[in-house]
Formats: sequence, structure tokens, C-alpha cells
Amino acid sequence: MTIRVAPLTAADVGEALTVQRAAYVTEAQRYTQPFIPPLVETVEQFRADLAVAVGAWSGTRLVGSVRGRVDGTRMEIARFSVAPDQQGTGVGRALLAAVEAAAPPEVDTFWLITGADSHDNQRLYRKAGYEPSGDHVDKVGIRLVVMAKPRRA
Ligand SMILES: CC(C)(COP(=O)(O)OP(=O)(O)OC[C@H]1O[C@@H](n2cnc3c(N)ncnc32)[C@H](O)[C@@H]1OP(=O)(O)O)[C@@H](O)C(=O)NCCC(=O)NCCS
Repeated sequence: MTIRVAPLTAADVGEALTVQRAAYVTEAQRYTQPFIPPLVETVEQFRADLAVAVGAWSGTRLVGSVRGRVDGTRMEIARFSVAPDQQGTGVGRALLAAVEAAAPPEVDTFWLITGADSHDNQRLYRKAGYEPSGDHVDKVGIRLVVMAKPRRA
């Protein structure tokens, strides 16, 4: 089935939060931490975070989404999620490229946070040009890696 990538709107938020929750369960299990931010986000918080937001559809089914959070010239890639049964088929790569393309013109750097033990994710990000730029332990004790890359003209 062909994947269609398009802006995510308020009408999509219910479905997108459902997919996000399903996708992030494996990360929660990896770190034995059920209260990671993507799993405790509310519909209202999600609706308030649609300035740069992209979804992927297979037919009429929403199979993934990702958001960009702009702060000055930097944009964080956040809440990157693909439905479990659709993972590993290229949806994530398409979403990542689309959210980068949707960044406003003032953005010159993309960055993101991922778990230090999430090696599959880090491989995907490295292939997309991201490099580790720091690490820290969050308030629930998970070791995180910051990755970043410059925007190319
Ligand atoms: C991370 C995620 C959005 C990637 O989307 P995807 O559609 O599975 O990714 P793609 O199929 O486009 O790309 C596959 C690449 O992603 C990586 N990857 C990450 N998680 C994966 C998974 N569960 N299954 C397969 N590949 C995965 C691999 O490096 C793979 O590269 P490879 O082909 O060299 O093995 C998706 O797997 C997901 O929702 N994971 C759970 C939530 C999460 O961890 N989000 C990111 C937090 S930083």
C-alpha cells in the first residue's frame, strides 16, 4: 500500500495519540518506565503542538506521525511514532524527511533526544545524518543521547 504523508491537523489527534501510545510501549518496556513523556501526553497537549506536525496514511488509516518544535533557529524532532505492525517498512524515514522539509525557513539545525539503549533508533538517525552531540540522565533515570544535524540548503 502506498504511504501518503501530509500535515497533521486537530482532527487527526485522537488517532495519532493512539498510534503514539502503541508505538512507545516498546520503549517504555525497554527502560522499565511506563511514564515516559509520549505515554503521558494528553489530547489537549497534543492539539497545542501542531505548528509543525506531519502524519503518514496507508489508505484511510493513520500509521504514524512526528512533530517539530521550533525554538529560534533550532527544531526538535519529537513524538516520532509508527504503528507497531508498520514499523521497519520505511514509514519512519518518510516522516522524518517530511517533518524536516516542513521546518520554517529560519531553522538551520535539527535535533532530537533518544534513549542511549535504543540502538535501532540511533541507526535510523545516523543514516539520516544525525550525530550524537551530548548525553544526560533524565529525571526518571533513563540515559538519553542528544543527536543533531545541520539543515542543508
Ligand atoms: C522509530 C520509528 C518511528 C521508526 O519508524 P519505522 O517506520 O519503523 O522506520 P523505517 O522503517 O522508516 O526505518 C527503519 C529503520 O529504523 C530503525 N528502527 C527503529 N525502530 C525500528 C523497529 N521497531 N523496526 C524496524 N526498524 C526500526 C532501524 O534502524 C531501521 O533501519 P535498518 O533498515 O537499517 O534496520 C518506529 O520504529 C517507532 O515508532 N518506534 C517506537 C517509538 C520510538 O522509539 N520513537 C522514537 C523515539 S526517539
